[in-house]
Amino acid sequence: MIELEHLTKRYGEKLAVDGLTFTVRPGVVTGFLGPNGSGKSTTMRMMLGLDKPSSGEVRIDGKRYIDLKEPLRYIGGLLEARGVHPGRSAHNHLLCLAQSNEISPSRVNEVLDIVGLTSVAHKRSKGFSLGMGQRLGIAGALLGDPQVLLFDEPVNGLDPEGIHWIRNLIRDLADQGRTVFVSSHLMSEMALTADHLIVIGQGRLLADTTMADFITHNAHSFVRIRTPQPERLIAVLSAEGIGWDRGDEGSFEVSDVPAEQLGELAARHRLVLHELSPQRASLEEAFMRMTATSVEYHAHTPSENNGTASAGAPGAPPGAEPGSGPGSSGWGAHRKRGEGR
Ligand SMILES: Nc1ncnc2c1ncn2[C@@H]1O[C@H](COP(=O)(O)OP(=O)(O)OP(=O)(O)O)[C@@H](O)[C@H]1O
Ligand SMILES: [Mg+2]
Repeated sequence: MIELEHLTKRYGEKLAVDGLTFTVRPGVVTGFLGPNGSGKSTTMRMMLGLDKPSSGEVRIDGKRYIDLKEPLRYIGGLLEARGVHPGRSAHNHLLCLAQSNEISPSRVNEVLDIVGLTSVAHKRSKGFSLGMGQRLGIAGALLGDPQVLLFDEPVNGLDPEGIHWIRNLIRDLADQGRTVFVSSHLMSEMALTADHLIVIGQGRLLADTTMADFITHNAHSFVRIRTPQPERLIAVLSAEGIGWDRGDEGSFEVSDVPAEQLGELAARHRLVLHELSPQRASLEEAFMRMTATSVEYHAHTPSENNGTASAGAPGAPPGAEPGSGPGSSGWGAHRKRGEGR
């Protein structure tokens, strides 16, 4: 377990991490999300004792990092910038780490095998590709067989096979009852891997919740209906007091009513349907909506630079409509709304 209490880091004028209090629990994969520069890596460095908090503290299984004897046995981490001597082989790099933490040298070959670097174990790491370097970093994290593992952007630069491998590794580690904390900018990947989410913006905690709740509360899910009998559908929905929005290509969008219920309603009224499909909001949509006001570094489209109004709120999800940013009642709030709402 990792516990943060009012953890704060200041670099001169810059408050990189601002009073973070949360707990990362064992047995689940906890995703760590936040826009660029929001303080994720700084937080992880403080968890690993590589940066000193300005105030507040981090406890690993109840202890501060400096009080851990042989820390690699408690917590392992893959950070963005890894310090591997380029002239040293993967095997020697891990052996040095093992020796300084009283870890048996035989564990070096075990972790090299787990990460698939056995065949290049004695080559100098200078010639390693990005993906091989990433695997070596993970081998270092696993060396002490720790109960707590941190991965900062672990899929950076990996090919699809490597991404798949890391996803399964992270899941297995959590299933073994370990505490797994992982940051990534790849929302689709995070959606597949994480059970719980910690979201920060400008160093402050924005959310500490399950993946499912985060998406439900921060993005718009609905059921899309298409019918050749639109007037009758409108009448049926209105009679039931069900609200609707107009969607693309003559479709209807109904929120808050499950597809099953809508299908049964249509059947009772012998209504022909060409489509009845639940549209689940994505993690990306929910993330962009939540963090829209805390993104520090915005790219600007050419039309914005020309002074022309651009569609969509800053940070609004792809396809979002004007006026549909944070604070509005939902995506497509401008559309014609049906009766009964
Ligand atoms: N050693 C340092 N000295 C000064 N400022 C720093 C230092 N490390 C980080 N910062 C600043 O602290 C803030 C948080 O940086 P951090 O790297 O933790 O963000 P991040 O969430 O990991 O970003 P990214 O998603 O781009 O990896 C940034 O404004 C960064 O410039
Ligand atoms: Mg970072």
